Amino acid sequence: MRLNKYLADCGVASRRACDKLIAEGRVAVNGKIVDQMGVVVNPDNDHVTVNGKRVAVKHKTYYILLHKPKGYVTTVSDELGRRTVMDLIDIKTRLYPVGRLDYDTEGALILTNDGDVANKLTHPKNQVSKVYVCRISGEITNAEVAKLERGVEIDGKLTLPAGVKVLESDVHHSRVELTIREGRNRQVRRMFEAIGKDVEFLKRVAVGEIRLGGLSRGKYRFLNEKEIAYLKSLK
Ligand code: URA
Repeated sequence: MRLNKYLADCGVASRRACDKLIAEGRVAVNGKIVDQMGVVVNPDNDHVTVNGKRVAVKHKTYYILLHKPKGYVTTVSDELGRRTVMDLIDIKTRLYPVGRLDYDTEGALILTNDGDVANKLTHPKNQVSKVYVCRISGEITNAEVAKLERGVEIDGKLTLPAGVKVLESDVHHSRVELTIREGRNRQVRRMFEAIGKDVEFLKRVAVGEIRLGGLSRGKYRFLNEKEIAYLKSLK
């Protein structure tokens, strides 16, 4: 690759401005100042500096939202040979799912190669909200709603206060929107278990300010600038 293009790819400056830096003798390749035009470098092996400081190509960051369907595991590979969410993504760069949805759960799953953002999203101190729509067996009573809101015991520890909205409820089933701010293993299913209810269907509709909206099952989209700014704004 030509040196000026490589420097531009590293974010040093525009190609033309990099030509100027080269002409001024401020660029070195493998310790030797290069001040002619047209020099070619190998980005994998050559050590390139500008004003004595090493430069490197910044890797492009991706932030995507996948509508995970049921029947996929949220890992990069699965020892049981089951389908993984990576089978639904045709981006060549290695991306990683942020947090986890169970095999039987569908909905919003963020994938990124930005480790910093992934940490911020999952760090307990940030208490990022996750909103689930749950269909459960039987009617849900006000007392049960109050229990979920206050916190129920899972593994000997109370869950944080949760938001509960009953969308519909009859003797057969109820549909409940549950907002939680932790990410314990199978938390939603176990919260309902704690009040004696079976979860028949579980879908995550939002992670923080990122909403699933009308994204079809199995499809993904790139997050927009506002959504990425939100993710980066987390402390
Ligand atoms: N809670 C669950 O029980 N399952 C999920 O997949 C996510 C939250």
